[in-house]
Amino acid sequence: MSSLTQKPLFNPTADTSYEKRMLIGGETTNLMMLSNNKYKWSYPLYKTMMQNFWIPEEISLGQDKMHYERLEHDERETFNKVISFLVFLDSLQTVNLPNINDYVTLPEVNLLLNIQTYQEALHSQSYGYILESIVGAEKQQEIYDIAIKDPFLLKRNKYIADCYQEFIDHQTEEGFAKVMMANYILEGIYFYAGFSFFYNLARFGKMTGVGTEIKYINRDELTHLALFQNMFRELKKERPHIFTKALEEELREMMRQAVEHEVEWGAYAVGDRIQGLSASLIDQYIRYLSNFRLDAIGLDPLYPEITEDPLPFIKQFTNFNQTKTDFFEEKVINYAKGGSDLDLDGLDDLDL
Ligand SMILES: [Fe+2]
Ligand SMILES: [Fe+2]
Repeated sequence: MSSLTQKPLFNPTADTSYEKRMLIGGETTNLMMLSNNKYKWSYPLYKTMMQNFWIPEEISLGQDKMHYERLEHDERETFNKVISFLVFLDSLQTVNLPNINDYVTLPEVNLLLNIQTYQEALHSQSYGYILESIVGAEKQQEIYDIAIKDPFLLKRNKYIADCYQEFIDHQTEEGFAKVMMANYILEGIYFYAGFSFFYNLARFGKMTGVGTEIKYINRDELTHLALFQNMFRELKKERPHIFTKALEEELREMMRQAVEHEVEWGAYAVGDRIQGLSASLIDQYIRYLSNFRLDAIGLDPLYPEITEDPLPFIKQFTNFNQTKTDFFEEKVINYAKGGSDLDLDGLDDLDL
């Protein structure tokens, strides 16, 4: 195991020549020298993340309050559980990303991780806005508390936090790869039973304002996936010796475990009680998604037998080009000035 030390805050004697610039364990003065970046993908990704800027309050949720009251009992229960879990995930990201960033020695990646951190905080704020818009103060607290008081969710949330805590307690290069994987799994798997629930409600005309909020959150999350996919590729180039067969199997095992947890969560929170969804559809969808996620970082898929998307309607919501205009004819939110030269498809194999 190669240990990793936290970079000094300011190191005026650092050698910042190209060869010495690396994702971790590189030399950095910590000056944010953001021109002539080593990683050429970083600037297009930066522009995309910045142009995705959005404001939760600009999406009207007046109708959603009425919809919420008219939801079936089971739909409302699932809605509450899913929101509470999403609050947990985005909160954990906001708090933990700086712990990862402390060990990153490339300013262009420090910049992107900071933007990601801010976006995760914005996502938490959007859930606050959603709850304030549709339920009273007492109910809001009750919904936040599900993440801590529901025994199923508490156990799951502790597991997720423990994966991050491990790197806070022990820093090694292999541990860095694993905490990156934990982050990648959170961004690319743990959101998706919840997202599919909201998109499913929206396609039946229910809670469409919330569906739009989720779509913008999802758009941000996809750039976070792109960031970590690219970080993985760079780390593999710079530290090939840590990517042993054993470590790669460990990373795949993390994914296998994550899929099991997300599938159990889907069965618990959504189950077979919601029109248009079922536990087995979510099961297949999460496995299908995990194949893409692993393939995108050069690892073998776990479920090669699953080749068809069991929830094709989700693509309508996550297609990047479509999110530039509003699917539900809410206010169009696109702060990009004039014609945009952004093309996320141009980023390496970003699998949606
Ligand atoms: Fe987020
Ligand atoms: Fe994220």
